[in-house]
Amino acid sequence: MKRIAIFASGSGSNAEKICDYFSGRTDVEVTLILTNNPEAGVIKRARRLHIPVVIFDRKTFYDTERILQLLKNDGIDFIVLAGFMMLIPQYLVNGYTNKIVNIHPALLPKHGGKGMYGHFVHEAVVAAKDTESGITIHFVNERYDEGNIIFQATCEVLPSDSPEDVASKVQVLEHVHFPRVIDEMISK
Ligand code: GAR
Repeated sequence: MKRIAIFASGSGSNAEKICDYFSGRTDVEVTLILTNNPEAGVIKRARRLHIPVVIFDRKTFYDTERILQLLKNDGIDFIVLAGFMMLIPQYLVNGYTNKIVNIHPALLPKHGGKGMYGHFVHEAVVAAKDTESGITIHFVNERYDEGNIIFQATCEVLPSDSPEDVASKVQVLEHVHFPRVIDEMISK
């Protein structure tokens, strides 16, 4: 059995899709959800799905290796960042080399880097008058959005689209592809 931990800071719609996708599987399971945000919607979702949640603060994450110890003690094989807004510290990258994946709501290397998350990304796409956007699933290293790209999918952006319109199109792609790509990665 491969054990997945999901890190999320927000609503957790992707986290829930991933949990649903693997529920009933005997070879892969989401066993833990971690968040830095005590108000995150993902906490309610995790409780509804009966998946344990760990809430941690910035100091614990950056000044200690307690999160790595916790993941190793829990036998976690693979880490998924699903709307997790903090940079992954070096000790965690080293502890899970090529075993951490992130989803970014745009076509990297465009519209990535520090401060580029959630609605900021879709606003940047509209401001740049891009004719397409999409999702990027990539390995995580110690720099924002720079790890090797695993998968991209695109959607059309119309001149009349608002950032919210782009966000909706991107979210459809995320929910369709992210669980499936994680499955492929883990099965390799
Ligand atoms: C997703 O769109 C994800 O791509 C994005 O946050 C959203 C989380 O939604 N991640 C980033 O912007 C990372 N830079 P969710 O909480 O509903 O899954």
